[in-house]
Amino acid sequence: MMLLLLIVAGLGVVTLLVILFAPHIRSGLLVGQNEHCEGVTLGSGKYAAGGVCRSPVSLEGKTVLITGANTGIGKETALELAVRGARVIMACRDVDKGEESAASIRAALPHAQVEVRELDLADTCSIRAFAQKFLGEVNHLHVLINNAGVMMCPYTKTIDGFEMHIGVNHLGHFLLTSLLIGLMKRSAPARIVVVSSLAHNFGWIRFHDLHSQGSYNSGLAYCQSKLANVLFARELARRLKGTNVTVNSVHPGTVNSDLTRHSTLMTIFFTVFSTFLKTPREGAQTSIYCAVADELHSISGKHFSDCAPAFVAPQGRSEETARRLWAVSCELLGIEWD
Ligand SMILES: NC(=O)c1ccc[n+]([C@@H]2O[C@H](COP(=O)([O-])OP(=O)(O)OC[C@H]3O[C@@H](n4cnc5c(N)ncnc54)[C@H](OP(=O)(O)O)[C@@H]3O)[C@@H](O)[C@H]2O)c1
Repeated sequence: MMLLLLIVAGLGVVTLLVILFAPHIRSGLLVGQNEHCEGVTLGSGKYAAGGVCRSPVSLEGKTVLITGANTGIGKETALELAVRGARVIMACRDVDKGEESAASIRAALPHAQVEVRELDLADTCSIRAFAQKFLGEVNHLHVLINNAGVMMCPYTKTIDGFEMHIGVNHLGHFLLTSLLIGLMKRSAPARIVVVSSLAHNFGWIRFHDLHSQGSYNSGLAYCQSKLANVLFARELARRLKGTNVTVNSVHPGTVNSDLTRHSTLMTIFFTVFSTFLKTPREGAQTSIYCAVADELHSISGKHFSDCAPAFVAPQGRSEETARRLWAVSCELLGIEWD
């Protein structure tokens, strides 16, 4: 009996590892996927580094907005897009932490045009105040990267009473995008990148209990919110047809960042397997690729990982679920968005 249990546990761990690292292993095999993207390592020498965006596109004269840009993948995305000459607006809930990160970017790149603005995605008043100021002061928005996220936090609610994962990862970004989409259409060609996750595979939208009030599992709440990201990108892409504003979702890879801060188990897991994880810089590559690559200029509603098209779970391809989630999101936020 004990032996059987050990075999089952062992198989479980192997399955989890394969699921987590499969995209990196695949990209490690597919060296040279296209002209501007290669499945090669990025400085760290790890086979798990994943795809690299090698597009030479300059962003001189372009304005980029990145949420959650004070740390992790968001900060590295900000640095890389600043290197390309963009004016980068880092939307952070903690302005002091944001300013520290902006200062470190400026230290590495003295001519970087980086600005920090306050945005708490767990508070719709903060999102509205941010957007109002932004629209009053910024004339163009060419790239919006919905990057900020929380994972596996204890049951908490946003200021507006939404469960934290769905509230920050999906609803906060949904509202932000709705408030900025007019400016993006006027700035077209423009792109939106929604940072989702492989975790969307394990999620489903629990319309009967979106805020997990009946039962709460922090992992499943995260997966639900990441599935919502994929569905949002698909539905938004459908609605943006003909506007020259595109939107795609990405899985950044399994990245050694602060994301695991709420889960001791995940923190231990990420520490033990850190050799197999991407650095934040490596994790930023697919967001950067979707934001700049010439060949994606008309690609919308797709999902990417390792700078290449990626598999979307069946529940992430359901047009009906996407439309329903859109309607429910508008209702919860008290907005109309056709
Ligand atoms: N790391 C991975 O393995 C992995 C895998 C798949 C997908 N992703 C996705 O990648 C994205 C970036 O994650 P990361 O790994 O870079 O994690 P991270 O280092 O923890 O960064 C998350 C960012 O989101 C910000 N944020 C959290 N709550 C916010 C709120 N209410 N308002 C505004 N900003 C808020 C954080 O700000 P504070 O620093 O102030 O908390 C931080 O800047 C997330 O969407 C995540 O789901 C990550």
